[in-house]
Amino acid sequence: MIRLRNLRVGFGARLVLDGVDLDIDDLVTTVILGRSGIGKSVLLKAILGLVTIQTGSIEIDGQDLAPLSPRKRADLRAKIGMLLQNGGLFDSMTVYENIAFPLRYHRLASGADLDRRVRDLAALVDMTEALDQEPSDLSGGMRRRAALARCLVQDPDYLFYDEPTTGLDPATSALVETLIHRVATERQLTSVVVTHDLDLVRYLGDRIALLDAGSIVACQNRTEALAPGSRIWETFITAREKIHSGQQI
Ligand SMILES: Nc1ncnc2c1ncn2[C@@H]1O[C@H](COP(=O)(O)OP(=O)(O)OP(=O)(O)O)[C@@H](O)[C@H]1O
Ligand SMILES: [Mg+2]
Repeated sequence: MIRLRNLRVGFGARLVLDGVDLDIDDLVTTVILGRSGIGKSVLLKAILGLVTIQTGSIEIDGQDLAPLSPRKRADLRAKIGMLLQNGGLFDSMTVYENIAFPLRYHRLASGADLDRRVRDLAALVDMTEALDQEPSDLSGGMRRRAALARCLVQDPDYLFYDEPTTGLDPATSALVETLIHRVATERQLTSVVVTHDLDLVRYLGDRIALLDAGSIVACQNRTEALAPGSRIWETFITAREKIHSGQQI
């Protein structure tokens, strides 16, 4: 479980996160919704230590990160994999080399063991046929699948997805959603998904959290969150209808 309390993150004078409280429960998928530029990616990066937090606490599996040594903090954060907004594959490497990279870099596996792990993961994400291709030869959906395999190779307990279906057509989005569900089940993962995609929310979201004006203003299970009249429904569905009809929100 990851527990955030009163998290504050700012850049210069601007506070982007201003007191975020959130519990990310084990083995469920938590979806984080919020307008563009509101701080969703910053929230994921803060948990991973990629941006500095000003105040507040981050607890991973019952351990508060603040008093730990940098080494212990890094070990806890290594339980988290993240699929970046653009996938983040290395363009000059084949899919095979991309998936193998973390194993080689951290010296976690070599030889036949490495080969087996890369091929198992490629099979899990249906990319066996594309192992020799480079990212420039792949479609958007294939790139995300390859990037997902690379995240999984270090066997994380948590997987963060930053807008995993943005820019994909509906059928490819559905494939990626199915895959996120499949890897979460097969690998016993706790997933956190940042998205604007309501179809994804309906399919994958167990808990739905809404980030607005620096804090989590609602966190509900799927049925509550998608019930007409809920804060999340009002923000994402009613607001859209109002804007289409020219009203102020
Ligand atoms: N490293 C940084 N330095 C300065 N400002 C930053 C940095 N990273 C993010 N920001 C600012 O923090 C705010 C939140 O950014 P963030 O990328 O988290 O938004 P988001 O909710 O993920 O948006 P989107 O849905 O468009 O991806 C933005 O105003 C952004 O400009
Ligand atoms: Mg973002």
